[in-house]
Amino acid sequence: MKVTWKLPDGQEITAEVANGVNMMEAAVANNVPNVIGECGGNLSCATCHVYVDDAWADRTGEVDDFEDAMLDVAEAERRGTSRLSCQIEASDDLDGLVLIVPQP
Ligand code: FES
Repeated sequence: MKVTWKLPDGQEITAEVANGVNMMEAAVANNVPNVIGECGGNLSCATCHVYVDDAWADRTGEVDDFEDAMLDVAEAERRGTSRLSCQIEASDDLDGLVLIVPQP
């Protein structure tokens, strides 16, 4: 699948991501700034926080209780479309996904 990260400075990074890889791993592999993934995808850091583009917000699944709690302590402002990107897994259904990287 293809995913695009929109950066705070207006630049975009688009990459091909294999199914099953999560969006934090994909961001790190593609040098997307400000998506760190400090805890390695264990839902304990919130450094993988992104905003899902409105058009995709309904398609990236539900926020569970652990993710919800971590989003509350994310550094950037929490919005309705906030997600921890380690909790979004690449799949054919998400081909074309757009993620917005918060301002650091
Ligand atoms: Fe730590 Fe996502 S990488 S919560």
